[in-house]
Amino acid sequence: MVCLECIFYLSGILIKRFPCFSIRNSGVFILKEKNLPQFFEEYLKKGSVFKEKRVLQANHFPNDIPHRAVQIHQVRVVVAPALRLERPSNLFIYGKTGTGKTLVVKWVINGELVSAAKKAGVSIQTLYVNCKLDADTEYGLFTELATQVGKELPLTGLSTDDVCSAFFSKADSTKSILIIILDEIDYLMKKAGDDFLYKITRKNEELKNTQVAIIGISNDLMFAEHLDPRVKSSLSEEKLLFPPYNAIELQDILNNRASSAFKHSSLEPGVVEKCAAYAAREHGDARRALDLLRVAGELTDRKGATSVAVADVDSAEEKIDHDTVAELVTTQPRQAQLVLYSILNISHGAGKFIFTGEVYELYKKYCAKASLRPLTQRRVSDILSEFDMLGIITARVISKGRYGRTREIMLAPQAATPVVRRLLEEALNL
Ligand SMILES: Nc1ncnc2c1ncn2[C@@H]1O[C@H](COP(=O)(O)OP(=O)(O)OP(=O)(O)O)[C@@H](O)[C@H]1O
Ligand SMILES: [Mg+2]
Repeated sequence: MVCLECIFYLSGILIKRFPCFSIRNSGVFILKEKNLPQFFEEYLKKGSVFKEKRVLQANHFPNDIPHRAVQIHQVRVVVAPALRLERPSNLFIYGKTGTGKTLVVKWVINGELVSAAKKAGVSIQTLYVNCKLDADTEYGLFTELATQVGKELPLTGLSTDDVCSAFFSKADSTKSILIIILDEIDYLMKKAGDDFLYKITRKNEELKNTQVAIIGISNDLMFAEHLDPRVKSSLSEEKLLFPPYNAIELQDILNNRASSAFKHSSLEPGVVEKCAAYAAREHGDARRALDLLRVAGELTDRKGATSVAVADVDSAEEKIDHDTVAELVTTQPRQAQLVLYSILNISHGAGKFIFTGEVYELYKKYCAKASLRPLTQRRVSDILSEFDMLGIITARVISKGRYGRTREIMLAPQAATPVVRRLLEEALNL
């Protein structure tokens, strides 16, 4: 432990030896302005192509949502009965990543509906849970929901059913409509099964004051197909698909945001079009398009140039892919890295389906080389499912007639690169 006196003693020495430092009451050192390092001085003097960069960041809420009028209307239609204290139908929303699902749901429900309810004096509670980030177990989900309705829970000693009951009894304490938005619901279901959905729908029938509606959002298009039939019929009372954006639609989205994000004339002609075309080429992902534009701007600033050029979009694409894959690969546990390395060595590039059995055999050989105990085929199969969810591979189940079913996998292009190989070899010491 460092005592406060020591800190002040050391601060004194530091200030005497380095007079460019001063000390605030809080004890935090700050540099006196005139002694800023050259680098930062120059950085501050340099201009930037951005006027307001955060407009391009993923969590920024835009003030307009082009090309989603149909979906916005459909969500409004489904949730409107809540304003008359009638339970809205459960809604299941699906579409690929970056197609505006989260944005539209938050816009209509947390924004428009909540304001309309306030105005009308109707009690509507809305709870939003991102199952991937905040609750990837059943226990985690009910704890999160209970916390959001203001129920204090002891830190230990409660079972999942206890937490579930505690949440519902608190939620049922006022006459209201409760809308639970379960974003990235497929993550929770893949980890915890669909029992939580069954619990919610069954509990709903027992409540006296509150009526619950669920809005599930998923980018796994086949997600609803895997549900228990009872849960499936209840969750899919209404379904809504968000199609991918095309290049022209992405241009509109980007232009809308670019006008407040960038300084006048700091985007050369063709930049927005190229970002839109690149993002449309993959799967019409608005997040990707916005990232490309933002990173192209950041790279321009780093170079000290005054306008973003078309070529900067290529550099941005390279940087984003490199950063994403590098993070994915290097943060995987060692066993998963070995599985990926085996896939890489069998695949010889992307675009070819390979059998999971072959992967397992090679993986076992690498384990022996690395003096690691191999996981069971079952566990390796779980790792492959995880890779599938992360977009590192694409998996498909094929029937082999009377020999049962087997799974084939294909490495995604962004994982079939020399960079990934090098990162894995470095991480695994191979
Ligand atoms: N029509 C639009 N207008 C303006 N911005 C949009 C539009 N559609 C999407 N975006 C922006 O693109 C990004 C991704 O959108 P969003 O998070 O809603 O996608 P999603 O479908 O929920 O993706 P995921 O399945 O990966 O969660 C966000 O920054 C969002 O603001
Ligand atoms: Mg989302």
